[in-house]
Amino acid sequence: QRLKKENMENRKQVLSCIQPTGHMHFGNYFGAIKNWVDLQEKYDCVYGVVDYHAMTMPYDPKKLRNNTWELIFNLLATGIQPENLFIQSLIPEHSELGWIFNCFTPYGLATRMTQFKDKSLQNKEGGADNYISVGLFDYPILQAADILIYKADYVPVGKDQEQHLELSRNIAQRFNHQVGKEYFVLPETLYTEVPKVMSPADPTKKMSKSAGEKHYINVFAEEARIRKQIKSAVTDAGETPEGEISPGIANLFELLKACAKMDAHDTLMEDYVSGNLKYVDLKQAVGDALVEVSAVFKERKAEIVSNKKEIKYKIKASSAEIRKQAQQTLKDVKDLTGLMNVRF
Ligand code: TRP
Repeated sequence: QRLKKENMENRKQVLSCIQPTGHMHFGNYFGAIKNWVDLQEKYDCVYGVVDYHAMTMPYDPKKLRNNTWELIFNLLATGIQPENLFIQSLIPEHSELGWIFNCFTPYGLATRMTQFKDKSLQNKEGGADNYISVGLFDYPILQAADILIYKADYVPVGKDQEQHLELSRNIAQRFNHQVGKEYFVLPETLYTEVPKVMSPADPTKKMSKSAGEKHYINVFAEEARIRKQIKSAVTDAGETPEGEISPGIANLFELLKACAKMDAHDTLMEDYVSGNLKYVDLKQAVGDALVEVSAVFKERKAEIVSNKKEIKYKIKASSAEIRKQAQQTLKDVKDLTGLMNVRF
């Protein structure tokens, strides 16, 4: 149960969400998930796997549910506590509040969202038949509902989400103003210094799934595959200015740091500075470090998957528990906006 322990009464509320698309790679892990895991010590955290959001881009209905469970298993394996996890479609109040928020969002403001512009372009260029759904346009407003429904104080997200956070605050303010009550908390972005992991195949670009298989390393991949991807990582990106570290080498050092291998990092960096670094040694060290991180997670995941049924039950139960807060907020919102309440 999510009962607050006594000394935790005043803990701030943290919320973040992630879309159930494909694999979890080391860019996702070091750039976001590891931070989510650590935040659980200091704050009341809820983390959502947002399947309603995953419908906004062309997708395969047969894969969605599997991807959702797969991501839940991965999040648990990397250290997210089950009682902090929910699945968005098990809490229909998100979409209900999303509708209400549609009516508190100026159309002109919604049209300024740059992620919508980027993603619509992606659909056009990706051959998705020019298909751009109203859902894709509405996405940031559903995101505002995800955040505000739990009265989140802090939202740990990357810089690319700052505009959506701004919109969430704007919606909260408009709502509060219109109903004449400081009802919603204005959520703040929680920035944490996180490693920026680059693609092994093109270290000038962020590690990502959209660029293709060579561009990301799956956290749960076979040991041999991880080693191979590091071995073939690009180290020489052509014209690096004199005295500057090439993006590929920088990325390998960054990965060592991310894995907390500071001794190896410092020794190899000395070699680099004195001009004695052998790339094979650096790659060996990075391969070892990633394989070590991955091994722990794979072991935990194997255990989780062998208890699939029980784990799914647990996550449905935690979603039901987290839903209570969402129901309370929605009840208040309906009262404040002149709608009818069925329950309570
Ligand atoms: N838009 C976020 C992303 O693309 C995912 C997301 C949906 C989210 N709802 C959220 C993030 C609420 C933080 C809070 O990464």
